[in-house]
Amino acid sequence: MNMLRLNNIHKKFNHLEVLKGISLEVSQGEVVAIIGPSGSGKSTLLRCLNRLEVIDQGTIEIEGEILATEDTEGKCQYVSEQKAREICFKMGMVFQQFNLFPHMTVIDNIIEAPMLVKGIKKDIIIPEAEELLKKVGLFEKKDSYPSRLSGGQKQRVAIARALAMKPDIMLFDEPTSALDPELTGEVLKAMRQLALEHMTMIVVTHEMAFAREVAQRVIFMDNGDIVEEGTPEQIFNNPQQPRTQAFLKSML
Ligand SMILES: Nc1ncnc2c1ncn2[C@@H]1O[C@H](COP(=O)(O)OP(=O)(O)OP(=O)(O)O)[C@@H](O)[C@H]1O
Ligand SMILES: [Mg+2]
Repeated sequence: MNMLRLNNIHKKFNHLEVLKGISLEVSQGEVVAIIGPSGSGKSTLLRCLNRLEVIDQGTIEIEGEILATEDTEGKCQYVSEQKAREICFKMGMVFQQFNLFPHMTVIDNIIEAPMLVKGIKKDIIIPEAEELLKKVGLFEKKDSYPSRLSGGQKQRVAIARALAMKPDIMLFDEPTSALDPELTGEVLKAMRQLALEHMTMIVVTHEMAFAREVAQRVIFMDNGDIVEEGTPEQIFNNPQQPRTQAFLKSML
């Protein structure tokens, strides 16, 4: 089943065309890594998926439900606010900057959205949140404030927080690039675990080793386009496009 279908997505910021007709399908349980140079549109693409940015043209379909599509004149139309929100709840997002609430403990950070947005009762969500904290190896930090955590720990809380909403698709935007190298491993481990549990994941990353090991498909973006995609084996060992070859060489 297709979890996500994008057709011909265009996005401009003023006169700058940042996405130039992106089409992409992601199936259930698939892990897709997106790589590419700075400014190529990777973050914008993820942000368009869950409506942090609005597209100008194209179709976005999540689990068979249309979020945005073109009318007969080719103008992009979004579904109703209520419907769009429902659809976007199917996706959890983890950013480079963890965006935890500093005035709330770890556990409160995790239960906030399920309680507030989904109306889940505290006695139901607390055990679920504790399970998630065990899963990312942070149960003993449940009553700590974010300021007392390392970057890697904060990011694992951010992952648990996204999972508490029970998403079907997880979007990661360079989740380890703000971390000291010795802390990236613990975050990648939590992500690897999610992949093993067949979570559908789209991961924008500079971690080529992680992309190679965990992703089933690697997408190389440059200048608002998908230049090349394939298995990690194809992209890393035998890239066909000169731009992919040059990028990979620069990453060595
Ligand atoms: N809100 C915005 N307003 C104007 N321009 C923007 C905005 N957000 C992004 N851009 C521009 O869009 C282009 C793509 O940015 P984007 O953040 O998607 O790139 P990226 O591939 O994620 O890069 P990086 O690897 O550095 O994170 C860049 O030229 C950027 O300056
Ligand atoms: Mg980015």
